[in-house]
Amino acid sequence: MHHFQYKNGQLHAEDIAVADLVYEYGTPLYIYSATTLKRHYKAFDSAFDGIDHLTCYSVKANSNLSFLKILAQEGAGTDIVSGGELFRALRAGVDPKKIVYSGVGKKTVEIQEALFADILMFNVESVQELERINDVAGGVDKVARVSLRINPDVDPKTHPYVSTGLKENKFGLSRADALKAYALAQSLPNVEPIGMDCHIGSQLTQLSPFMEALEKLKEFHGQLVQMGIKIKYMDLGGGLGITYNEEAPPHPEELGKALIESLKGLDVTLILEPGRVIAGNTGILVTEVQYTKTNEDKTFVIVDAAMNDLVRPSLYGSYHRIASVREGNGEEMTADVVGPICESGDFLAKNRTFPKVAQGDLLAAFSAGAYGFVMSSQYNSRARAAEIMVEGDKHVLVRKREVYNDLVALEEDGLACIGRLKK
Ligand code: LLP
Repeated sequence: MHHFQYKNGQLHAEDIAVADLVYEYGTPLYIYSATTLKRHYKAFDSAFDGIDHLTCYSVKANSNLSFLKILAQEGAGTDIVSGGELFRALRAGVDPKKIVYSGVGKKTVEIQEALFADILMFNVESVQELERINDVAGGVDKVARVSLRINPDVDPKTHPYVSTGLKENKFGLSRADALKAYALAQSLPNVEPIGMDCHIGSQLTQLSPFMEALEKLKEFHGQLVQMGIKIKYMDLGGGLGITYNEEAPPHPEELGKALIESLKGLDVTLILEPGRVIAGNTGILVTEVQYTKTNEDKTFVIVDAAMNDLVRPSLYGSYHRIASVREGNGEEMTADVVGPICESGDFLAKNRTFPKVAQGDLLAAFSAGAYGFVMSSQYNSRARAAEIMVEGDKHVLVRKREVYNDLVALEEDGLACIGRLKK
């Protein structure tokens, strides 16, 4: 359920006509709904109301400060994967005691920053990382709370690029290696193992992989108890899918019920790291039709948003619903919706049927709230889009449109550079 609906033939973001926002801010334009965001967070978090739990929103899905501030106010924690995400989370007022730090490549300085912020725990992905965290913590006279990320070797049945819990993936430790790593953690003076962690993949549309992973974690938990390790946190990661097209993923409530049942009798706080299920359907990307053309029997709608703005279709072959901002009169067309970038891989949709559009019309790509703007780039020297947050009939520009100067702001001036190289 989201708040992008047609009223009087015009697509609205909550109570504001999308076309009015475009009139003010131009295209391409990301528009988010604060009401949808709050609703998705609450629906997710309350699904686990029966047990001790902490919802750590996965910042990578959409890291705009407005998102993080809204979620922090709702009481969410965050799952971060870089010093930059820690900076954003703290800037947005997220309680450090609700921050977990995942990722395979944490650098020394990032570990220091997280220790100084006193985050809840590090999800550790290798023995070397564990040793580094111990050293860094020792250097600043702290004890780092850690959990080890276990790779349970479960098939999440999703796109291979976002499968993370199979043994051929780079993430986490096998159960055998994790056991040794827990023993090592026990012997190291500056780390305290307090949790177990796994994240098996993204855009999961079935319950069974979650349950299979939890079974393996529970079995492993038994072994840790025997080793005298007290596990306080069981982090099951994120990954719950959303409906882009015709997928029918389980509702968070179903996941909640199943996990609560399976965790009965286990004295742990459940941590979840949802990203997409909270952010995905909170946003749309609006774009203006520049040209239409037909080559032989193939029709193209050329729009001003491209793979640099929304890379998911090009990168994963992902489906995003495309709709006209002005409701059609029933006449339809079938076309590829493509951007201006000089690659055939630059498309938002292929062979898609939608209400007929013409030059100057506006189109919206739905479900663009997660992994949309955050994955954008300046490829082809295209300034990044603006972002707007709407609530009811109010809106705020939450990120300005980049201008040409932003494209070169961090670069050495060309002539000066050539002059110095010659000397
Ligand atoms: N926790 C960890 C450790 C993760 O690596 C991820 C996502 C999440 C949580 C959140 O997963 P979610 O609930 O959003 O599925 N760019 C891709 C998705 C990459 C996901 C990476 N990790 C896409 O556009 O589909």
